[in-house]
Amino acid sequence: MQDKILILDFGGQYDQLIARRVRECGVYCEVRPYDMSGEEIRAFDPVGVIFTGGPESVYLPGSPHPDRAVFDLGVPILGICYGCQLLADELGGRVTAAQDDSAREYGKTRTYFDVTSPLFRGLSEQSVTWMSHGDYMAVVPEGFRLTAHSDACPNVGIADESRGFYGVQFHPEVEHTEYGREMLRNFLLGICRAAGDWTMRGYKDSAIGTLRAQTAGGRALLGLSGGVDSSVAAALAAEALGDRLCCVFVDHGLMRKNEGDEIERAFAKWDINFIRVDAEREFLEKLAGVTDPERKRKIIGEEFIRVFEREAKKLGRIDYLIQGTIYPDVIESGKGKAAVIKSHHNVGGLPADIGFRGIIEPLRMLFKDEVRQLGRELGLPETLVTRQPFPGPGLGVRIIGEVTKEKCDMLREADAIFREEIAAAGIENTMSQYFAALTNMRSVGVMGDGRSYDYAVALRSVATDDFMTADWVRLPYELLDRVSRRIVNEVRGVNRVLYDVTSKPPATVEFE
Ligand code: XMP
Repeated sequence: MQDKILILDFGGQYDQLIARRVRECGVYCEVRPYDMSGEEIRAFDPVGVIFTGGPESVYLPGSPHPDRAVFDLGVPILGICYGCQLLADELGGRVTAAQDDSAREYGKTRTYFDVTSPLFRGLSEQSVTWMSHGDYMAVVPEGFRLTAHSDACPNVGIADESRGFYGVQFHPEVEHTEYGREMLRNFLLGICRAAGDWTMRGYKDSAIGTLRAQTAGGRALLGLSGGVDSSVAAALAAEALGDRLCCVFVDHGLMRKNEGDEIERAFAKWDINFIRVDAEREFLEKLAGVTDPERKRKIIGEEFIRVFEREAKKLGRIDYLIQGTIYPDVIESGKGKAAVIKSHHNVGGLPADIGFRGIIEPLRMLFKDEVRQLGRELGLPETLVTRQPFPGPGLGVRIIGEVTKEKCDMLREADAIFREEIAAAGIENTMSQYFAALTNMRSVGVMGDGRSYDYAVALRSVATDDFMTADWVRLPYELLDRVSRRIVNEVRGVNRVLYDVTSKPPATVEFE
């Protein structure tokens, strides 16, 4: 059996990061809601448990507490920030609000460690940690000793080594904590004695086995969008199911240059039932004359489902629907979501009224970079595996105003030039997303001896961690110059190139 760590989520902002760090140590883990029952915790059978941080105060009524069974599992526990205060509160200590001038700490803090404690073994006696707490452990619980302090706070780290319970007020998972990774490694490999042998290759083999068992000889359908997640899910399912897998790739004609062919080529090596539906005409007909961004999105989303369902019905009996949902989607959907600014359309949101026996999500425990790694293990081309995010409605939301075939073709060429030049400069990795959009503006120019009245292309390039906020990238002028010259020379109908220097907010990444 694979060693597993259970991360109980108390609502902290770094919870996903903790999971990432644990997996980086070669230990499999899952983030689960704090109110998981004792029975579920025992069934999960972890080799160790981590309590995350959280925004509440442990001493207030209604604050989140775990099922007490977690303390009787006989496995080590690491409490981080709120999680540390929980240990204190649950095991007989006392937590209070810190006074302004005493133990309330935010940001980088010099911290002093007792390096005889297994959590800090082999590390420096003094280093910087990242704190973010307004509460304070006034009384350390019975059986615990102090293992770290700062100048302002005497109780930064506590440990009951006999039970394997450790608590830290700071956040070892964030970069600013100098030896945070090492502390987590000490906890996982030293204290929990996890083997640290979790690899993507191993995960691939077991995921293929699981998929075979789940589908039990049945047929499965997968909607391929060309994005990383659905492509990797498709490749995994192709390995597991072979010709019992039907992949329907609805080509809405709003893809980037050559993209449809690249996707088709990537899946040619598997003997699966691959259906590429050329639906460009249908989509463009539905979009004719439509200029409102939300209506465009709705039309594309609805049309997508219609075409997909039509094709699926032609396939006869299908038992399962396979989707490329990934871990951040799973975790996020458990929390309240921010207001809808744009109605997003994803292949994942298909209605399941085609009569499936079940929906299978083989990537639901993987982070994005793990999904990419799995794609590589499965032999998908690098272009697909490292593909930047691309909106479901495709070029439909990068053409401002009415979408026509001519505009799509113009934009495809301009965008390809931009991407080629960025690849030639070798700076793809400095950006999260970069693309061209076709503005709905025409302006006067001079070409040779003549006057032109053509479109303006806007280039956009952003850097972001989470796509909720983004900064525009300071691209080198020489690069912008080359791209601009090439676009106006090579793309008919374009006589002006603009660069978008707006962050999100107030702008969004896409133009519509
Ligand atoms: P915005 O424009 O909202 O984009 O700042 C944030 C991120 O989401 C992508 N995006 C979409 N992705 N379906 C998707 O799957 C959509 O409808 C959609 N709209 C925007 C966008 O490319 C950026 O990465």
